[in-house]
Amino acid sequence: MTIKISRFSPLQGTIAIPGDKSITHRAFILAAIAKGKSIITHFSNCSDCTSTAKILQKLGVSFQYESKTVKDRLIITGISNIEQFLHVNDFLDCENSGTTARLMLGMLSAIPSSYTLNGDESLIRRPMKRVTDPLQKMGADFSFSDRTGCLPVQITGKKQLRECNFTLNVASAQVKSAMLIAAAHAKSALKIVSPWLLRDHTERLLKKMGAPIIFDNMDINLKPDSVLEGCEINIPGDFSSAAFFIARAAVEPGSRIIIKNVGLNQTRTAFLNILRRMGSEIRILNFFNDSFEPYGDIEIRGARLKATDLMPEEIPALIDEIPVIAFAMACADGVSNVSGATELRIKESDRISAIVREFSKFNVKIIEKHDGFIIDGPSKFVSPDKPFIHNDHRIVMTASIMATMADGTTEIQNTEAADVSYPSFFTDLDLFRENPQTP
Ligand code: S3P
Repeated sequence: MTIKISRFSPLQGTIAIPGDKSITHRAFILAAIAKGKSIITHFSNCSDCTSTAKILQKLGVSFQYESKTVKDRLIITGISNIEQFLHVNDFLDCENSGTTARLMLGMLSAIPSSYTLNGDESLIRRPMKRVTDPLQKMGADFSFSDRTGCLPVQITGKKQLRECNFTLNVASAQVKSAMLIAAAHAKSALKIVSPWLLRDHTERLLKKMGAPIIFDNMDINLKPDSVLEGCEINIPGDFSSAAFFIARAAVEPGSRIIIKNVGLNQTRTAFLNILRRMGSEIRILNFFNDSFEPYGDIEIRGARLKATDLMPEEIPALIDEIPVIAFAMACADGVSNVSGATELRIKESDRISAIVREFSKFNVKIIEKHDGFIIDGPSKFVSPDKPFIHNDHRIVMTASIMATMADGTTEIQNTEAADVSYPSFFTDLDLFRENPQTP
């Protein structure tokens, strides 16, 4: 679809955000390998999570809505006997989803059969050896079709995986999650040391489902003989999706919005600290810590922001928010500098080049560095001469937010790109244009 966006007045209103994508992937996979039934509510129906669900269904896992008419309670019946997963000769297609590919590599490592994972144009360029190398140490076999270490890859799993002590050598929650899922599935022991604070959704869900796991920010210890029990999993709103509206409200005085029931796991919310240090007024209302994941409401009031620098050690905890942080930097007074963010080059697109190229089209003064970029703000956004088109969901949503502050009308093409993580993004954006309510 193509839509046209012109300037919005400062944002006012209350909004709820769909369920968290990272947690939904994990809920689907862990429910699929658990004993009995799990009931999943407020899950994300983004296309990335659908890729995970479709593969699990091909492997024989049952996904059913509790009622034919109400589609917000999903019942997943796990296959706790590893021998009962179906053999699939065809490719298992991860489509655009890096999380599907990496977590599935972990799950399949414990099934004594061979499967081949593949992906779309973007995914087949993304590195997989960061996941297969540690899984190989645990005993699974992998065969790539060429030397690049990218999909397609054939996995031959083992029912018994080796006990493993591993120190992460890349700041990736997907790597540690793949290892944890493999070990829990094979009931083997695993210790991981992480030099970085990374999202810990897998650890929290494993614990909720009864796995013998002890973890803190950096050390994870999964004891042998995990037995996962199906359970009810209510997924909080996706912080990374909320980030688009948080940023848009934060940068303009006169804005005031409340975002309801957002996941507030501290491994995901570093973006709020960055905005606060830029001068933003953000409050957490109704904070709940009564579930496996903390959640609550976020109130944001707009303010004039000042520039800041992002340091390499800050990057892992806000990697998905960097496009919207760049937007906030473009609105702020002064020069902002992002360093140590080369991981961005291997996301759904090369996000360093994409941010620099696409922001320049909106009249932002931005310079590319090998590991980040420098932005000289504040920018006076101007709609690009040509229609805006990009395949990367986070770049499209960031550009659309920017379009709501630009002079002129911006034509956004291929709005479907947002479906990868936030299918109702454009409908939610419209709520602020057409139906402003007072929070
Ligand atoms: C994710 C982890 C991050 C993130 C991705 C989702 C996850 O990737 O960028 O969008 O769900 O574990 P890395 O693990 O590669 O850092």
